[in-house]
This record gives sequence, C-alpha cells and structure tokens, in this order.
Amino acid sequence: MHDKYGPSLLRARHDQDHVTDEAATEISSFKSKAINFKIAFWDPEKNGLRYMKTLMYNLAAGLSDENWKRLRRIENRTVGDPITITYGGEPVCMDYLRSVLELDFIASNVELDGARVLEIGAGYGRTGHTLLSNHDLLEYHIIDLPNSLKLAEAYLRAVLSEEQFVKVRFTSIGDVDERYAATDFDLTINISSFSEMNAETVDNYLAMIDARSRYFYIRDAVGKYVDGSLNGHSELPEVIEFALSAGKLRDVIDIHDSRAVESHGAEFVDAYRPGPGWTCVADGWAPPWSHYWQALFGKV
Ligand SMILES: C[S@@+](CC[C@H](N)C(=O)[O-])C[C@H]1O[C@@H](n2cnc3c(N)ncnc32)[C@H](O)[C@@H]1O
Repeated sequence: MHDKYGPSLLRARHDQDHVTDEAATEISSFKSKAINFKIAFWDPEKNGLRYMKTLMYNLAAGLSDENWKRLRRIENRTVGDPITITYGGEPVCMDYLRSVLELDFIASNVELDGARVLEIGAGYGRTGHTLLSNHDLLEYHIIDLPNSLKLAEAYLRAVLSEEQFVKVRFTSIGDVDERYAATDFDLTINISSFSEMNAETVDNYLAMIDARSRYFYIRDAVGKYVDGSLNGHSELPEVIEFALSAGKLRDVIDIHDSRAVESHGAEFVDAYRPGPGWTCVADGWAPPWSHYWQALFGKV
C-alpha cells in the first residue's frame, strides 16, 4: 500500500496480530499485554532467558576492577555448562557474579588469608571455589545434607587444584556435633540456605556458630512472597506451603517494593545474630535479588 514509507513484513505482521485497530480502542491495561510486547519488546513470559542474560550483562558491566580480578582468578567456572554471557572476552555466569559480590562484602570486613572457614549449606560449592581461588585459606569446611555434599565433592574435585582441594573438608549433618566439638572457625558462611531450613534447625546452627566461630556472614531472603505470577505459577501448592513455613523470617512481603524489603532489614539482623555477644559489623541490601539482605557479624 504505502510504498514509500510503508512497514516491513515484520512490522506488518505485528500490526496484523497484536497492534490491531481493536487493541487501540481499549487502553485500560494494554501496557502489560501482547500489544505492548510488540511495541516495547519485553514479554516476560517468553523471554526468561533474555532477561536472565540481560541481568548478568548489566551486573558484569557494573563490576569493579577488583571484582573482575577476583572473577578471573576463579578457574574452571564453565565446568557444569552454566548459562553464560561474554563480557570483555570472559565467560560470565550468574552464580559466580554473585560469588564475587559476596566475596567483596566479606573481604572488606574479614582477613581471609590463613583463615579456617566453615560453610553451612554449600550447594555445589561455588563459594568455596571462589574463596579458595582468591585467598590462601587454611581450611574450608562444608556442612550439608548428604546429596548436596556429594555434588560439592565431585564439583570441587573437578574445578580446584590438588593443593586447594586438600584444604576442603566435607561433613554430613549426622557427624556435625562429634566432628566440630573442638574446632574453631574464623568465619562461618550461610547463603540462601537458612531460609529453607526449619527454624529450630537454624537456631541449632546459630548456637554452634556462637560457640565455634569468630565471624558470621549470611546472605538470604528477608521474607516470603506468594505472587505466583513471578514464577509462572510453576510450584505445586504443597511446595508453596513448605516454602512459606520454612526459615525464621516468614513475613509475606512485596519483594519488589524497596521500602518493604528495607523495613525487614532490622528483623533479618536480629534473627541471624548468633548470640548476645555479637556485633553486626555491616549489613545491607544484597543485590541482585531485590529481597535479599546480607549481614556480617563479629564476636567483638
Ligand atoms: C538453595 S541451596 C544454596 C547453596 C549455596 N549456598 C549457594 O548459594 O549456591 C541450599 C543449600 O542448603 C543445604 N541445606 C538445606 N537444609 C540443610 C540442613 N538442614 N543442613 C545443612 N544444609 C542444608 C542444601 O542441601 C543446599 O546445599
């Protein structure tokens, strides 16, 4: 029709299917519907991976020089075939981006060279990998459930040098009291883990940290959410119930409301202070997740 200024086949198809004449007659909610996804280009239901990669790209672009050095020191990060972007020629994945941000916070407050570190709930072991690659630790101990422990052992054996790997000790939950009756740690770490445990179990671990550790770093959610649209309603009702009842911090909040998150920061610090003799050395929002907080406590 309009040869001179007419639409391409692509735009003509978008107009035919989405940005239709009828769509323009009803503007009360068009911005989060298909019509706008062909104008603003951000349909979140179909673009999950795009947004994940965009988030990673932006985090990588914002890393300090020191954090880039930290990231580059961690060899074998692509073992396990993570989702990556490439920034400055370097393959970058979400897990190790978070790891260097975590290390940045910890290393600003705790001397890590020569330290004996304990991590409770290590997943596949990215935090140990990060710390051992960046600091000359004395030992790195992991306490976890048997399944994750096996995964962490296999992973860390694959990614660490022999010299680093011999510093790692793996302890299953059943052996904790016997094994750690007399071992003192410079630092204990817990990331995204206390919020999935029974509250009583968290208190038992905090008592152990109180008795055995000098510093404690925690990074976790300040509360719960029930907005199923955030994960495409993908969880079974039973699993949602389990999630809502786990952990010590169970207030349901709008996790994308900064004031709601910030107003739970003090509760986070209170809940995870290992004992009365501990000071909160530093705490604050823990990006990239909107509802995460981090705190470092010291027995001082
Ligand atoms: C969501 S993953 C987080 C893993 C890791 N901290 C990270 O951020 O990549 C939670 C971890 O806590 C561990 N965990 C859950 N309940 C536990 C318990 N009662 N005692 C020890 N570890 C536990 C899980 O096995 C898993 O390794």
